Amino acid sequence: MTEDKTGQGTSLQAQMGDITKIEVDALVNAANTSLIGGGGVDGAIHREGGDSIRSECQEIVAAQGPLEVGQAVITGAGRLPARYVIHTVGPIWHEVAPEEGTRLLASCYSESLGLAVANDCETVAFPCISTGAYGFPIGLAATTAIRTVQKWVAARPGELSEVLFVCFDSSNLHLYRAGLRSE
Ligand code: APR
Repeated sequence: MTEDKTGQGTSLQAQMGDITKIEVDALVNAANTSLIGGGGVDGAIHREGGDSIRSECQEIVAAQGPLEVGQAVITGAGRLPARYVIHTVGPIWHEVAPEEGTRLLASCYSESLGLAVANDCETVAFPCISTGAYGFPIGLAATTAIRTVQKWVAARPGELSEVLFVCFDSSNLHLYRAGLRSE
């Protein structure tokens, strides 16, 4: 496990695994705008977390409408070993210009961190948002994720104790570990 201290007391780590098994305060879900669930990490979180998560998602959409890309909302975690699930919608790579896609992906990370801290979370786990069904290039996604999180925690010393980047494949893991070492 590679650890990269930002010098601000927040540990950033990359690890391989199934995010539904990670014990943290908040798990981040790579959702879609309708919050109805899907495949990939979205499917795993709803499958393992149970119906309470979907019910809360339906209430949120009923109250405020579909999410915008780059936006995040928070629900309970049902049966998952977490307190909360933060649902964020990443950009679909072929639907936006690269610069706009990168901006929107960065927003997923910063909006999720803001919600985590606003709900007294100290530990947060992210999947590799947008790099599956949404086709975002994994190298640019990893760089964007690391830079956004490092900048965010550096501006808020000690608000979070740990941010985990949970990778589901070795390609992403190598990118995150290299990125955390070099930043
Ligand atoms: N734990 C951690 N990572 C996972 C897991 C899991 N259980 N399952 C999949 N992943 C990884 C994928 O391998 C990929 O690296 O999460 C990353 C994101 O892939 P997707 O889940 O496909 O998410 P995304 O590319 O953001 O597409 C979101 O897919 O599932 C639907 O409803 C979802 O419409 C939304 C879209």
